Amino acid sequence: MLIRYKKSFEKIAMGLLSFMPDEKDIKKLQQSMKSYETEESKHLFLWKEDDDFIGLIGIEVHGNTAVLVDVSVNPSHRGQGVGRMMVTSVRGFYPGYEFDARKETAQFLAKCMDC
Ligand SMILES: CC(C)(COP(=O)(O)OP(=O)(O)OC[C@H]1O[C@@H](n2cnc3c(N)ncnc32)[C@H](O)[C@@H]1OP(=O)(O)O)[C@@H](O)C(=O)NCCC(=O)NCCS
Repeated sequence: MLIRYKKSFEKIAMGLLSFMPDEKDIKKLQQSMKSYETEESKHLFLWKEDDDFIGLIGIEVHGNTAVLVDVSVNPSHRGQGVGRMMVTSVRGFYPGYEFDARKETAQFLAKCMDC
C-alpha cells in the first residue's frame, strides 16, 4: 500500500533513498530528503507491506507532467514486483498527468509502462 511521506518516516525514507545510485554522498542525500519536505513540486511516497516500509517513490511535478525522480526497493524485497506496483499506484495520485522519467529512472519506468 502506497502512503504519503510524513516527517516521522524520515529515517526509513532516507535509508530507502540511499539505494539510489546518485544518493551515495550523505550531504546530497540529506539535501534530496529536505527537498521532498520543502519543495511543493516534490512528493514522496512509501510502500508499506505487513507493517514494514520496503519501498520509496519520489515524484516531481512540472505543469501537467509527473516525473519519476526516485524509486527504490529494499534489497530483500526486489524482483517481486514491488517497484512496478509502486509505479502503478503512484499514477493513481496523478490522474490526467503525463508520466515521465529522468535519465536514472527512464529504463525502469519504460519497463513498468510496458505492461
Ligand atoms: C529499480 C528497483 C526499484 C526495481 O524494484 P523491484 O521491486 O525489484 O522491481 P520489479 O520486481 O517490480 O520489476 C519490474 C520489472 O522491471 C525490471 N527492472 C528491475 N530493475 C530495473 C532497472 N534498474 N532498469 C530497468 N528494468 C528494471 C525487472 O526485471 C522487471 O521486469 P520483468 O517483469 O520483465 O522481469 C530496485 O531494483 C531498486 O531499488 N534498485 C536500486 C535503486 C535504483 O537503482 N533506482 C534507479 C533505477 S530505477
